[in-house]
Amino acid sequence: MLLGIIGAMNEEVIQLKEAMVLNETRELGGYKFYRGTLLGKEIVLVECGIGKVNAAICSTLLIQEFKVDKVLFTGVAGGLNPDINIGDIVVSTDLIEHDFNCTAFGYDYGVIPRMENSKFKADKELIELAKKVAEKNFGKERVFTGTIVSGDEFVASNDKIKWLRDTFVGECTEMEGASVAHVCYVLNKPFVIIRSISDKANHDANMNFDEFVKLAAQNSKIIIEGMLELI
Ligand code: ADE
Repeated sequence: MLLGIIGAMNEEVIQLKEAMVLNETRELGGYKFYRGTLLGKEIVLVECGIGKVNAAICSTLLIQEFKVDKVLFTGVAGGLNPDINIGDIVVSTDLIEHDFNCTAFGYDYGVIPRMENSKFKADKELIELAKKVAEKNFGKERVFTGTIVSGDEFVASNDKIKWLRDTFVGECTEMEGASVAHVCYVLNKPFVIIRSISDKANHDANMNFDEFVKLAAQNSKIIIEGMLELI
């Protein structure tokens, strides 16, 4: 089995890259794909860059070019649920593109017209595995499972938090997960998105982000390695 692992930023993948045994680096469209093993398991790791399109391109390449069987996304997010704190973990049950707006045609926010599905469900087994590993390492009270909302926007306002929470009941917000989920849905591959909270998406979000991104990325690495041990 070959696992695809995606992170958006260098900070989010560097620790996994350093821990893996690298067999091959392949550059496609400017994205670097690292093929090798981590804890003896075959993986392809890629730093996709920020935003939905970058994440969609890399997910597609992982599946079509590298033929990965499953996709894991690891990185940081802004918390929306008021009970979630910086350093906590969110495991996706499903994902929505929160900036998809065809309300002018009567569709709800987040609905992609002419697609039978706009809320992309993560794989049940991968969700359970991620939850189990996260709870073991961080404690049950720090692990949340639910909807993740993604858009091409760094959220840093209380009004937007309220809107995202009221509209989608999102646990956290980020800029890639739903597009990875969208690609995996279309190409029929199991996936899960695992996010560590780097900020609370409010007016301090940009400051908190820089301070906590390394800690949050380290949390993600702990979970990915824990999952690989059990996969
Ligand atoms: N990733 C981490 N924090 C975020 C935020 N506040 N908004 C969007 N993406 C994020």
